[in-house]
Amino acid sequence: MTHTRTVIHVVGARPNFMKIAPLMEAMHAEPHFRQVLINTGQHYDEKMAGGFFRELNLPVPDRDLGVGSGSHAVQTAKVMIAFEEVCLDIKPDLVVVVGDVNSTMAAAIVAAKLVIPIAHVEAGLRSRDRAMPEEVNRIVTDRLADLLLTPSRDGDENLLAEGVPPERIRFVGNIMIDTLRRHLPMARFDRLRDKVAVEQGRYAVLTLHRPSNVDHPETFNAILAALKHVARDMPIVFPVHPRTRTRLAEFGLDAAMSGFVLTEPLGYTDFLSLTSNARIILTDSGGLQEESTALGIPCLTMRENTERPITITHGTNRLVGTRTADIIAGYHEAMATNTPPRVPELWDGHTAERITDVFRGFLLS
Ligand code: UD1
Repeated sequence: MTHTRTVIHVVGARPNFMKIAPLMEAMHAEPHFRQVLINTGQHYDEKMAGGFFRELNLPVPDRDLGVGSGSHAVQTAKVMIAFEEVCLDIKPDLVVVVGDVNSTMAAAIVAAKLVIPIAHVEAGLRSRDRAMPEEVNRIVTDRLADLLLTPSRDGDENLLAEGVPPERIRFVGNIMIDTLRRHLPMARFDRLRDKVAVEQGRYAVLTLHRPSNVDHPETFNAILAALKHVARDMPIVFPVHPRTRTRLAEFGLDAAMSGFVLTEPLGYTDFLSLTSNARIILTDSGGLQEESTALGIPCLTMRENTERPITITHGTNRLVGTRTADIIAGYHEAMATNTPPRVPELWDGHTAERITDVFRGFLLS
């Protein structure tokens, strides 16, 4: 007789929700899994968290840890203290963590110390830039995980080069694309009519929230100078992350935003309507590099490095750095090029099922 196995899923910040939703749904089909959802509360605004639970059909979390904002040490420590209690109480057979946010690493450390197996979804990505907090989170989480579920083959290569035993690594594809494919039919342009006044295919979408870009006025200004050049060609729709909104006010940059259509952070499907109907995407996000590749929309990534090189080799992404002239040059190049992108291997909408199979093998056989 097969016993029920308890699996804890950990979410905390906006980019986690769309990765856990399809996995919980796929695992629901396996009667021997009992699933528990823990929300660390790293993101807590309705527009950064609450709305996503409902829109993505995530269950109401079994526990909310309510950690909120803080320095890296404070936020990580708060998740660890609260999540240790959860693990001692629930005694899971597996802890699933996704992506690279502070909650991911904190939960992995707790599980490792309690000798609970850990699965890391989106393992193996490396920017090789340790000044990026997410890179530290990725390295630590992958070092501790028992199952490393990679979105692309470069992830496998990175892990093997770091000495991770090959039997721990499973190439399963990109789970975010499961969610993207599911919601794309609902992401019609007319959803946006009342929200932004732009014409289909004739606007740019901007997201900007990395501390390295928005916390320093010189860098932020250099980026804005390039964006103003783009804004002469087409309007730029800019859903503003709370961190960035604070910095715009602090640096007195609000006034410099003419030609930009500023909005609050958008829900998942509204944002997908916006990106899938755009002429070009300008970003410093990780996930958006992948989404633009899946959508075939040109993307400029305003960073010095990327942990997602496949979006450049196979997709529509260009790494343009943060200098004004480089961003402008990248923009003109992207607008002049029309190479059809190739969708990376296993970005096919079935990653959640493959992960469920891996978990069956790991927990039930
Ligand atoms: C975090 C992740 C980052 C991810 C991003 C997506 C880490 C280290 N960083 O960065 O990888 O790309 O989420 O958004 O885990 N705030 C609010 N309301 C919220 C959440 C945040 O107002 O619901 C404000 C607070 O002022 C907070 C600041 O935004 O201090 C930054 O939030 P935080 O979670 O620390 O990092 P993010 O920049 O969102």
